[in-house]
Amino acid sequence: MSITEKGNTFHSNQELIGRTEINDLEAIFNEVGAIEPDGFHIVEDHCPAEFTWNYDKGARPALDKLYEKAKRTQWNGSTDLPWETPVDQEALATLAYEQGATGPVASRDLSHTALASWGKKEWVTLNMEYQNWMLSQFLHGEQGALLCTAKIVETVPWIDAKYYAATQVMDEARHVEVFSRYLDTKLNGHYQLNAHLGLLLDDVLADSRWDLTYLGMQIMVEGLALAAFGFMHQTTSEPLLKQLLRYVMADEARHVAFGVLSLQEVYADMSAGELRDRQEFAFEAALRMRDRLAAQEVWDRMGVAPKDAAVVAGQDQGRLEFQSMLFSKIVPNCKKLGLLDAGDGWLRDRFTEMGVIIFEDFVDTVAEVDLAAEVGPAERALVD
Ligand SMILES: [Fe+2]
Ligand SMILES: [Fe+2]
Repeated sequence: MSITEKGNTFHSNQELIGRTEINDLEAIFNEVGAIEPDGFHIVEDHCPAEFTWNYDKGARPALDKLYEKAKRTQWNGSTDLPWETPVDQEALATLAYEQGATGPVASRDLSHTALASWGKKEWVTLNMEYQNWMLSQFLHGEQGALLCTAKIVETVPWIDAKYYAATQVMDEARHVEVFSRYLDTKLNGHYQLNAHLGLLLDDVLADSRWDLTYLGMQIMVEGLALAAFGFMHQTTSEPLLKQLLRYVMADEARHVAFGVLSLQEVYADMSAGELRDRQEFAFEAALRMRDRLAAQEVWDRMGVAPKDAAVVAGQDQGRLEFQSMLFSKIVPNCKKLGLLDAGDGWLRDRFTEMGVIIFEDFVDTVAEVDLAAEVGPAERALVD
């Protein structure tokens, strides 16, 4: 139920995310989202396009520096990656199983679930399905970023942000291209857009306030993607995927920094009520991003019912730690934007409840981009 306090309207969990308990695993697994036939998914975009007559390129030096960096570090997904590398997905999935990275572990009681009778074959299949699913979600998320960034070009009122966003449109097209090619030529199956990620992308694209496009995409979706790419980059032994992820991550770090630099200026002048709206949006987005990791489409394809999948998820310490680690970029960036502690620390309390507040003092992405080596045509000879 909404509560109005000091003129501000606060929303309940039910209103924000459609359930009362944030950790209700069965509700998370039962979310099906919009199931649509192949083809189109239409979202009405209510944002007005805006011209500016102020062409001053130096008005925001930090954005200008990022724009210059983006132009220097473009790469070509067709020619800069070793696509000739053979990838044996089943052999890699089997190796992961044999090394104990996945499969049954002593601490999990699976005796009353469909997984009790699983052998090596099923666990290896799960590994492959999970990889197909993960890369498919990266692909759909990249298309979401492509559409959101095109929207920012239209709607942001500053010329320097329009310039930078235009470079990001090109980056995102390249990311869609390389993830699509990797799925088509190196893996063995696709998944539709995850239900929770779909709800978030629709919200971000439909909102009429341009700063919420940034908050939903650059801070939340891309912040989580940056951490997820980093984790996969560290753990995969497949050289093509490793290189692909390294190039994509160099772009993504700039995109998140673009969000932080732009929103810092906007949020500095916002009222408490307006900031509370942004805090609620950030909380909703964080939960959607976390809930997507339950990967219910994989369990569904493996023939495991939501209640059994919830038992496995609830017991799996490794999965919970991985899930929490993915917030290592989002939380410090929200802190840098002042969103954690605005309005009596409402978002700090929510992130505490989610178990991710421990990341608040991790390095924020603007600092990270300043420190990072550039990956681009001139530098590639040095780093490869
Ligand atoms: Fe991207
Ligand atoms: Fe991006």
